[in-house]
Amino acid sequence: MLNSDLDIRLEPRIQELYRLHKERSANIDWSYHEFIPWDKAMSFKRVPWDESQVTLPEGVIVAIETALLTEVNLPWYTSHLDYTFKNSMEVINDFVRTWTAEEDQHSNLLETYLLVTRNVNPTRLHQLRRRVVENGWFPDFTNPLATMAYTSLQELATLVFYNNVAKIAGAHDKDLATLLRRLAKDEALHYAFYRDTVKAHLELDPNFIVFFEDVIINFSMPGAVMPDFTERMKTIAVDTNYGPLQYFDQVLDVVVKFWGIADLEPTTDEAKQSQANIMKYHGRLKRIKERQERQLEKAKIDA
Ligand SMILES: [Fe+2]
Ligand SMILES: [Fe+2]
Repeated sequence: MLNSDLDIRLEPRIQELYRLHKERSANIDWSYHEFIPWDKAMSFKRVPWDESQVTLPEGVIVAIETALLTEVNLPWYTSHLDYTFKNSMEVINDFVRTWTAEEDQHSNLLETYLLVTRNVNPTRLHQLRRRVVENGWFPDFTNPLATMAYTSLQELATLVFYNNVAKIAGAHDKDLATLLRRLAKDEALHYAFYRDTVKAHLELDPNFIVFFEDVIINFSMPGAVMPDFTERMKTIAVDTNYGPLQYFDQVLDVVVKFWGIADLEPTTDEAKQSQANIMKYHGRLKRIKERQERQLEKAKIDA
């Protein structure tokens, strides 16, 4: 009988993944002070904020602020991972600490950028930030394998989000595009570790799929707890190139293929059912995506 904990037989493999992660992240180590356009900074006492100082389009600001309000909840993400993996192998706990140290500067970078460039009202931002962290984040899954699949999706979604927003932001501010791409590189390494840990479990025993079904089918970003999240995501989908279309093509479809879910050969009825449910969900999102693409195509022709 499988349990939802990480499989101890994979310890050497996961240690190797962690070693690789440390090596790659040492090669791209960075500090957020290098990415802030400090020469734009002014004292808020001497020159108070006012709306006329805003330079970026609203959609880009919403995207950056939403990213920031997602990253600020790091204490709660670490608390969730710490709780979830407390009885797991030591290497996972080592990874969680390394991961926390790397994530730790993400919100600093985004917040300092917004403050220095005066693209947000600093008082409003401070209040929002407080509110989000005070609310916390308490997902309804606390088993190690489900968490591994969730973090894989979340890291990939974040990576795609940063790169897609960077493409739009670059036209308005090159510094912003550079710092978003820098964040995306960190997320890429995080994604690789979680994704490969999940893959190793499925290779060892495809029946592990039962622990991944729920989080794949019910995935929502950890930032979903912030005020106006649905509105924000609508703006981001239209203005900055990250919405349901991109989620299917660049996130869900990518992991479903990488984990080879369609070709797994589980042996228990429960696992076969999980595999079928995930593929059904994947098929449904694919049809929605194709319909949207046809509508976009048609709108282009009609225009
Ligand atoms: Fe991050
Ligand atoms: Fe990350």
